Amino acid sequence: MSNTLKFDSAIEAGSVDEFLLTQIDPERLPSHIAIIMDGNGRWAARRNQPRVAGHRAGAEAVRATVEAAAQLGISFLTLYAFSTENWKRPRLEVDALMGLLREFLRKEIRSLKRNNIRFQTIGRDQGLENAVSREIDRARRETGANTGMVLTVALNYSGRSEIVEACRELARECLIPGRDPSQISELDIEQHLFTKCLPDPDLLVRTSGEMRVSNFLLWQIAYSEIYVTDVLWPDFRRVNLFEAILEYQKRERRYGDVKPAARSSLIAANMK
Ligand code: FPP
Repeated sequence: MSNTLKFDSAIEAGSVDEFLLTQIDPERLPSHIAIIMDGNGRWAARRNQPRVAGHRAGAEAVRATVEAAAQLGISFLTLYAFSTENWKRPRLEVDALMGLLREFLRKEIRSLKRNNIRFQTIGRDQGLENAVSREIDRARRETGANTGMVLTVALNYSGRSEIVEACRELARECLIPGRDPSQISELDIEQHLFTKCLPDPDLLVRTSGEMRVSNFLLWQIAYSEIYVTDVLWPDFRRVNLFEAILEYQKRERRYGDVKPAARSSLIAANMK
């Protein structure tokens, strides 16, 4: 395997990061990585700190992961930052999360531009504070012409309501004479999801060890490879991203088909 991965940030010679980077096959990178960033609360509790401290440390992990993914040549990175269900959390925590998002966008806009990253969000705009929506719009505008990695932040997002909304829109369209509901295809549904401009994730990463998908990209992860690490999100760094990608590269994706070897032996058996 010839490794031609170019990585702009300095990587210490002899470090684990460098070793793992040389193991990654640049020809088989996942095109789209989606991440359920979990464990901020536990990270804080282990340090006897308030949950908000965990989210603040989590924002640092976001910064490091976005930069590493872009430099590695990942085309799409989608981060689950705030679910529709997260509104149930204490007001103080919700405000802190929104504040951290605004701060991230304000501080990181230069780095997003430097790394040629295009920023966008998925989720419902309704319910977000004006100040948050303004910052999102600005980041979207200022990075809109970038041609590198697409960074999507899922904010006020719910996979089930995304599908419900797509069904409602399709139902409305079927009221138009000439539209036949029996002609609705998977592609039609995909084109009514928030993710219509994104390919399905190849790799879904979840931190902090929980084996759940938590209402994230329910339609889109039908054939994603799932990688769960015990690392708590605030501790997640590029080395952990490299580990996830290496694990992904060990998997054989069959999309419901059989292994190519099994296919040839079946054909051979039928020819006898
Ligand atoms: C889950 O941890 C994490 C979240 C609900 C929020 C993720 C937000 C950030 C990482 C910070 C800001 C985001 C951006 C994009 C800058 P949890 O609180 O559920 O942890 P626990 O399960 O240990 O309680």
